[in-house]
Amino acid sequence: MMSEKLIVTEDGSHTLYRDDLDEHYHSTHGAIQESQHVFIEAGLRKAMHRNGPVKVLEIGFGTGLNALLTLKEALDLKKKIQYVTLEPLPVSGDDYQQLNYGSLVDLEDASAYLNKMHESAWNFPFYFTDYFILNKIQSKLEDAEFQDEVFDVVFFDAFAPSKQPEVWSLGNFSKIFKALKPGGILTTYSSQGQVKRTLKEAGFEFEKIPGSKGKREMLRATKPIS
Ligand SMILES: C[S@@+](CC[C@H](N)C(=O)[O-])C[C@H]1O[C@@H](n2cnc3c(N)ncnc32)[C@H](O)[C@@H]1O
Repeated sequence: MMSEKLIVTEDGSHTLYRDDLDEHYHSTHGAIQESQHVFIEAGLRKAMHRNGPVKVLEIGFGTGLNALLTLKEALDLKKKIQYVTLEPLPVSGDDYQQLNYGSLVDLEDASAYLNKMHESAWNFPFYFTDYFILNKIQSKLEDAEFQDEVFDVVFFDAFAPSKQPEVWSLGNFSKIFKALKPGGILTTYSSQGQVKRTLKEAGFEFEKIPGSKGKREMLRATKPIS
């Protein structure tokens, strides 16, 4: 049976370790530093200047860390964000209640927000503030359906391609490509050759950019405008 263990990463923030996959939810060099670098700075901030609400799709809700950091951006910049996140196997209450993000993320009531994110119902939008709506979908990416050209940014935060290759498939990247607006971007911590080839085959252009601590590179992929 699968079990999860709480681990302290190098920046002091927690992550979870899944023993059946022998895989962590975040970089052991720092969970918060990785999420902030890969998804907030390299991804979300590239879309915050767009007109209207920013629509984010996350692959893998997990601990909720990316969602919490995105809520902080929305409140800091007073910009509306609609956040859709997929998760087939939600983290248990015993695990998420121990996570220390609430005391490390510089946001008033961060712990309460994180708990609410986990407690809110699946498959219904939950209105947190004027600036943040969360819609958690209990599904694998493989089974999810999206409208065409709705998302500005995708946080591709699945477990590593070596552990879950089926999630990094052409079918999944093509589905995301269709669901992104032209000019929309996807970021991921992986810069594996096979991931680049699959993104390219799905139609993306990509750039290699410096990775978070402990990783030389990461990828930012863009859906071309025409
Ligand atoms: C690397 S963890 C990251 C989770 C999260 N973003 C976080 O910060 O904690 C990967 C997540 O993807 C989820 N996952 C696994 N298979 C998936 C699939 N087929 N589609 C979507 N998510 C999946 C896992 O359950 C896990 O929560």
